[in-house]
Amino acid sequence: MASFLCYLMSIRLLFLLPLFHAIATDCFASRQPLCHDDESSALLQFKESFVMSKNACIDPSGYPKIASWKLEGMDRDCCSWDGVECDDDTGHVIGLDVSNSCLYGSMVSNSSLFRLVQLQRLNLAHNNFNFSQIPSGFSHLSSLTYLNLSNSSFSDQIPPKISELSKLSSLDLSYNFMLHLRSLEGLVQNFNQTESSTSQLHSDIISSA
Ligand SMILES: *[C@@H]1O[C@H](CO)[C@@H](O)[C@H](O)[C@H]1NC(C)=O
Ligand SMILES: *[C@@H]1O[C@H](CO)[C@@H](O)[C@H](O)[C@H]1NC(C)=O
Ligand SMILES: *[C@@H]1O[C@H](CO)[C@@H](O)[C@H](O)[C@H]1NC(C)=O
Ligand SMILES: *[C@@H]1O[C@H](CO)[C@@H](O)[C@H](O)[C@H]1NC(C)=O
Repeated sequence: MASFLCYLMSIRLLFLLPLFHAIATDCFASRQPLCHDDESSALLQFKESFVMSKNACIDPSGYPKIASWKLEGMDRDCCSWDGVECDDDTGHVIGLDVSNSCLYGSMVSNSSLFRLVQLQRLNLAHNNFNFSQIPSGFSHLSSLTYLNLSNSSFSDQIPPKISELSKLSSLDLSYNFMLHLRSLEGLVQNFNQTESSTSQLHSDIISSA
């Protein structure tokens, strides 16, 4: 449909030359795949590390967003994948929202996710990470400003390295009932030491006690 419109527009362009540049830019520039190969392969490896089944959906409104991610035809630009946001200029993946996506499986310390080092916003909430520990690998994502791990079945200690995320201004760890909240105390102190005075850690923790 879109390409047919572009075709019609091209015919009209013969008579409307001044418009040529603006419309041609619009029709053709938007076709360029933005995505970097190393980032699309990191996303696909992340996809393959989980079981996706409707049974793993926490919320009835959830659906496996990442099921449609693939490197074929028109879909090969990872910037157009469901839940993925890229920077318009650089093409780097800067946002990933796979909340409520029926992901089931353990989050490993060497997850390919930690190669997406340009990520600024990451939402993994409402999945089932099978009571794995929060990997310290999150600390590689040094551009993160927003991290949401709410209600996603993480357990054990919160890794101290998380406090190395100096740009983080929102961290949601709520509804992970197996998480040891005592490890949070030292963490908040660390954040206060490393944070710039303008950013403010907003941690939304619901006690399991
Ligand atoms: C968290 O997930 C459970 C299912 O594991 C669900 O029953 C509950 O409503 C969710 N809580 C919130 C606050 O979303
Ligand atoms: C979930 O964790 C259990 C216990 O550690 C393990 O046996 C099982 O294989 C894990 N399941 C998945 C899908 O990772
Ligand atoms: C993580 O490490 C395990 C074992 O060392 C390896 O089998 C797996 O392929 C690694 N995963 C990634 C995404 O590098
Ligand atoms: C985290 O994600 C859940 C599910 O999408 C949402 O309800 C919650 O408000 C988010 N938390 C923050 C701090 O944005």
